[in-house]
Amino acid sequence: MELFHLTPIIFSFPPKPIISLNPSLAVKVCRRSNRVFSQSGLMSGWVYDEYGELSVLRFDKELSVPHVEDDQVLVKVAAAALNPVDFKRFQGKFKKSDSPPPTVPGYDMAGVVVKVGSEVRQFKEGDEIYGDVSEKALDKPKKFGTLAQYTAVEEKLLAAKPANLDFTQAASLPLAILTAYEGLQRANLSTGKSVLVLGGAGGVGSLVIQVAKHVFGASRVAATSSTGKLELLRTLGADFPIDYTKEKVEEITGEKFDVVYDTVGQCDIALKVVKEGGAVVVLTGAVIPPGFRFVVTSKGESLRMLNTYLENGKIKPVVDPNGVFQFSEVVEAFTYLQQGRAAGKIVISPIM
Ligand SMILES: NC(=O)c1ccc[n+]([C@@H]2O[C@H](COP(=O)([O-])OP(=O)(O)OC[C@H]3O[C@@H](n4cnc5c(N)ncnc54)[C@H](OP(=O)(O)O)[C@@H]3O)[C@@H](O)[C@H]2O)c1
Repeated sequence: MELFHLTPIIFSFPPKPIISLNPSLAVKVCRRSNRVFSQSGLMSGWVYDEYGELSVLRFDKELSVPHVEDDQVLVKVAAAALNPVDFKRFQGKFKKSDSPPPTVPGYDMAGVVVKVGSEVRQFKEGDEIYGDVSEKALDKPKKFGTLAQYTAVEEKLLAAKPANLDFTQAASLPLAILTAYEGLQRANLSTGKSVLVLGGAGGVGSLVIQVAKHVFGASRVAATSSTGKLELLRTLGADFPIDYTKEKVEEITGEKFDVVYDTVGQCDIALKVVKEGGAVVVLTGAVIPPGFRFVVTSKGESLRMLNTYLENGKIKPVVDPNGVFQFSEVVEAFTYLQQGRAAGKIVISPIM
């Protein structure tokens, strides 16, 4: 894949040429020093009014800029990443615990603080930040998410944007890297242990490989993908890339793993290759004990800890080479995500 010839350092491509939204659709913004804010109290964004398939998404140029609570900051969103939870949510799969539509979707973003609530201590106007704006992904996630020009976020969910990353790269990280980290933490991974990642090339899997190696000190990481993504697995640090289109994990490894991290819904396979007393983390599909599932919690504190590894280059954001879409192309971006073949993350950038 051309992605892997370019650079082993940052797996992000420059965004495609900017296709401007119709200027008449753009919210009036004022620029004053490094601040950008809505003058009209209105903003542009994607919204859905009822649950359904992709056709429920519509672009609205007259959304209200969200109100900022005392513990929140208002962020001018520069880039936002998509996650499978976004489409599962607008399909109505989490109706019972969701806030009812209308909803601006989106969990991940990177941007600039333009206003701070009275209790905010860590951030000030002009700070470049990133984060997952909904503390619990499935429990009353935000009605005003990140696929809009502005979003209001509790400061405890945010961290400073790593200085070496651009907004696109930073936006690609929060939900996926927090899921990778929390899953490995819950699995009690420790130095010298082995890990198998089922689905190592996806948004979460590509970070599980790196977090397992660099944050938890795993001694050996195996991972599965289709043929074209094996080189990506190697570049991310996988010691043992496995082509699932040609080989069955349970037949070829000849070894068992301390932790199996399943991002694709193969708990049955995971249980065959985990050591006795080991842990099986399951993100999707059927869960067979002792495999366990969890739902990620957004934490600025964890992002701050992970910033050390991002800033020293040990952990790299992985943005799909065909996965940077314009703000006007959110439907196309979701169509691509729903195919389930992304290499790393899909990002909407720039959001202006
Ligand atoms: N519980 C939670 O808190 C939580 C948090 C985040 C995500 N999730 C869930 O976890 C799942 C993964 O999320 P994601 O963001 O990583 O998705 P994603 O980026 O869309 O995953 C796409 C990747 O899956 C790989 N893949 C598909 N089938 C595979 C197979 N049979 N074996 C190996 N790899 C396979 C694809 O690689 P190939 O093209 O090479 O097949 C592709 O790289 C989703 O269901 C999501 O909803 C749950």
